[in-house]
Amino acid sequence: MSVKSEQQLELEFQQRIDKGEVIEPKDWMPERYRKQLIRMMSQHAHSEVVGMLPEGNWITRAPSLRRKCVLLAKVQDEGGHGLYIYSGTETLGVSRDQLVEELNSGKAKYSSIFNYPTLSWADIGAIGWLVDGAAIVNQTVLAKCSYGPYARAMVRICKEENFHHKQGYEILATLMKGNEEQRAMAQDSINRWWWPSLMMFGPSDKDSPNSADLLRWKVKRYSNDELRQRFIDRTVPQAMNIGLTLPDPDLKWNEETQHYDFGPINWEEFFQVINGHGICNKERLKARKKAHSEGAWVREAATAYAHKKAGKMIAA
Ligand code: 3HC
Repeated sequence: MSVKSEQQLELEFQQRIDKGEVIEPKDWMPERYRKQLIRMMSQHAHSEVVGMLPEGNWITRAPSLRRKCVLLAKVQDEGGHGLYIYSGTETLGVSRDQLVEELNSGKAKYSSIFNYPTLSWADIGAIGWLVDGAAIVNQTVLAKCSYGPYARAMVRICKEENFHHKQGYEILATLMKGNEEQRAMAQDSINRWWWPSLMMFGPSDKDSPNSADLLRWKVKRYSNDELRQRFIDRTVPQAMNIGLTLPDPDLKWNEETQHYDFGPINWEEFFQVINGHGICNKERLKARKKAHSEGAWVREAATAYAHKKAGKMIAA
């Protein structure tokens, strides 16, 4: 049987993608497709794990037992999302240890949004409503991406994101029905989290070096700007419903385009944050490294148990 050239294999791969077929771990794939998926999926997993930190900061300070239980459940969900997506990334032939080392060494990126501080309880509402709301817009589309394990992981994750989004919105709606101080706390929080939430969708399309690959291979189904616009269009009416004012004087419904026009995003801030110079970058990395070293005994115990179970004793 003649050996197919790399070119022929790439052509057949693209035909599979164009037909809407799902690529599975054992299928032939271009090396660049595999590398792009490892980059994107590992950063997604890192984002879930680092995302536990800003919210975890308020577990001991939640205003009621009910709020504490809901926040605990959400933070645990995020940890599970991280492990789920790390497992999906491992199907591409990369080890969990390597991925964790890249995060803890500061080499790997994670979502810019988690480098902002949570200064009040209202921030927990803002994260649920805006951050998880943005994640839902992105992840519901990723649930149709061409790589099977990633798409399937998104289906389960999106179900939990919807709970995260609703509980955040309910926190803000409750505060907006409260006294003047509570309404001011909610408004201050939105003023701080609105623009960083728009940055979650990445740079504008013209400045997105990875989008062309990812769109051609149907990993991304929409561009950064299209997803950002979709998030804005669905979020503005929700803000109006509970009396919140979004901090953008240029925000205005455009009858012609049937979308909201919005003001300029501060891309200088975005690139500062993703290059390690955000408010909390150093603090987040320090916390991740501390958690990793304090968890070493758990990993060792699990490994010892696994080896014992497999009938091999680890040398003392
Ligand atoms: N934060 C950090 N880095 C970002 C970023 C962000 N918000 N947006 C873009 N970047 C980085 C990219 O990683 C890329 O750098 P790299 O080449 O060194 O990796 C560079 O900026 C250029 O951006 P591109 O648009 O070319 O990159 P992508 O095509 O990968 O698009 C993305 C960026 C839209 C974030 C895309 O990677 C994506 O959709 N990822 C999957 C979803 C995800 O990771 N979401 C993060 C939030 S998870 C979350 O919110 C959890 C929830 O439960 C709270």
